[in-house]
Amino acid sequence: MRFVQFIETSQNEYLWVLETQNMGYAFVWNAHRLENVYWGAKLPYPADYLPRELPFDPLGNWNFARNTHEEFPAWGDYKFNEPCLKVRFGDGVRACLLDYRDATISENGAVTTLTIHLQDEHYPLRVRLIYNIYADYDLIVRRAEIENVGGEAVEIEQILSAAWHLPQRDAYQLTSLSGKWGGEFQLQRVELPRGKQIIERRRGSTGFDSNPFFALADGLAQEDDGEVWFGALAFSGNYKIVIERDAFEHVNVSGGIHDFDFRWRLDAGETFVTPNFVAGYTAAGYGAASRALHAYELEHVVPRATARQPRPIVYNSWYVTEFDVSLENQEKAAELAAKMGVELFVMDDGWFGQRNTDRAGLGDWYVNRDKFPSGLAPLINRVNELGMEFGIWVEPEMVNPDSDLYRAHPDWVYHFPNRPLSTGRNQYVLNVARPDVQQFILDFMHDLLGNNNIKFIKWDMNRHFSEPGWMDAPEGRDRELWVRHTRGVYAIFRQLREAYPNVLFESCSGGGGRIDLGIMQYAEQFWMSDNTDPYDDLFIQEGFTLAHAPLTRMMWVTDTNWLNGRSYSLEFRFHLAMMGVLGMGADITRWSQADLDKAAEFVALYKDIRETMQFGAFYRLRSPRESALSAFEFIHPSGREAVVTVFLSQSQFGYFSTNVRLAGLEPNTRYQVDGWDEPWSGQALMQRGLPIALKGAFISKLIRLARV
Ligand code: GLA
Repeated sequence: MRFVQFIETSQNEYLWVLETQNMGYAFVWNAHRLENVYWGAKLPYPADYLPRELPFDPLGNWNFARNTHEEFPAWGDYKFNEPCLKVRFGDGVRACLLDYRDATISENGAVTTLTIHLQDEHYPLRVRLIYNIYADYDLIVRRAEIENVGGEAVEIEQILSAAWHLPQRDAYQLTSLSGKWGGEFQLQRVELPRGKQIIERRRGSTGFDSNPFFALADGLAQEDDGEVWFGALAFSGNYKIVIERDAFEHVNVSGGIHDFDFRWRLDAGETFVTPNFVAGYTAAGYGAASRALHAYELEHVVPRATARQPRPIVYNSWYVTEFDVSLENQEKAAELAAKMGVELFVMDDGWFGQRNTDRAGLGDWYVNRDKFPSGLAPLINRVNELGMEFGIWVEPEMVNPDSDLYRAHPDWVYHFPNRPLSTGRNQYVLNVARPDVQQFILDFMHDLLGNNNIKFIKWDMNRHFSEPGWMDAPEGRDRELWVRHTRGVYAIFRQLREAYPNVLFESCSGGGGRIDLGIMQYAEQFWMSDNTDPYDDLFIQEGFTLAHAPLTRMMWVTDTNWLNGRSYSLEFRFHLAMMGVLGMGADITRWSQADLDKAAEFVALYKDIRETMQFGAFYRLRSPRESALSAFEFIHPSGREAVVTVFLSQSQFGYFSTNVRLAGLEPNTRYQVDGWDEPWSGQALMQRGLPIALKGAFISKLIRLARV
């Protein structure tokens, strides 16, 4: 099967058809512009994709307010939709007109790549639009490259990765993810109004209040049915995704690096490469959209070297000790954790500098000798003796004003002279756009990883950017910090991963702040939320999994929840935390032997089903937003096992009994349900459902099914 077809429709007019298993995507060069003509379900014949003019345009000449359907609109002529490119040439001209030059197609394993070469009609500026087609997942990953082939610098004022155009429909529903600290990834779904909707971040990194993800669905779409167009941007800095619906019912989505306070000097010979913007189409509902993204993330985004390694079970004492870590309390917890079956022991904040509260010490990456008189070695050795690997917390991009680092290098933080500098969590942001700051971070990380047997890094990032001054930047480059900071972080990750290929990384940002497909290329997993209340996490997890694979989601079992003041059974907490990568963060030194034993059983169970929970296909069967009883299903990649988790927040008026209809099973294969005498067919389990009867508040069940 060919995934790209190139058709010459007439002289100087060409059509490209990109096809995946179920999706078709087509655009034309119509002698003036590169215009999208179709995106949706695959069509039977190439001619089905040809553009058709309206027999007549009722508005005639007065049709000037229509948005163009351009694949990559450059700003400068008579069109008004969100531009993907806005530049200023050396002579002051601010209009860019792109002409078609050539197209090339290449194959590389599962990916087919189409590159469209464009060039400004007059100025020496080249643009390459790159389409990577992932036929198995019905996804296209786009990016653009802008190359200055002239002798003079060009100023880039706006540069997005791609524009996507949706077919005309009566109405669309927009789904986006927005939240706050402790309440990340809340799903919101609204009817798309006319005008512009903007999903954006202008605080330096991706964060709680918005996630670079969108889904637009035909009004009738459900979890398991209906047309959904969706996408995610792979960038962890300032970004925007702009959704436009004009008065002619044209809907388009463009996204990439935010133009807010942004400028980029593209010197002669330089190329600017945008982040990837992945998008797809399905006729099988939101669930299928998520599974396409999950599969793509597992196969192509998460760090390759460890992509197929089962993730270890973590213990972390942050909620128990906070900054008060010591050799004694860490050892004590480690001994109990090891007995329980934990595989990786992580020491959180507080082990370095004068870090006794969050007001001091950040940036001073030497071991605090009051807490660890002989350094980290005794603790690491003990943890290793107990059969666990050791991990540690760092927050490399930040500094407390009360630190040796800040006293030595006040110029290393973003700031403006003559303006007060705000703190956030008592800290400043280091200017990671600067090569010397990057080198400082690399040096202390090499020191840490090169001299200690550390196998896991929790990389935190706990504040937003403000007063983003970079006064001694190279001329004309100070506003490049919004991109250079993120690129700097990525470059550090790349170098560390290369030097320490067996070290796992967890990205954290005050909980689930910086989570996106950009940082996912460098970090195996994300700390989903500082809120470990399992009932709240049901909701956070629903939003998280809309865009991100369970393999990337870390959650701990903790004690009484301090945010809502609620307590839960051990079972409810474990069942929730098991839906991804399992961790523990409770004060196990105070647990009864009975609870320790019970926890050890859950840990053993998790090890048994780990491949299914981490690498399986994930189905949201029932949403906690819609029912007191929510349910999820994981199917092992081989299909040999399924695990269903069911959570009841509270029963009312008697028992809560229902049939939870399963999904994704082979209809004619029989499955043995835990505790049943007779197996049922996949069809029966999907049509009739698993009968569930629960009573009480915060009750859960985990049910295993084995293929017969
Ligand atoms: C952030 C993280 C927490 C913890 C603390 C340490 O808030 O989200 O998990 O690591 O920092 O200061």
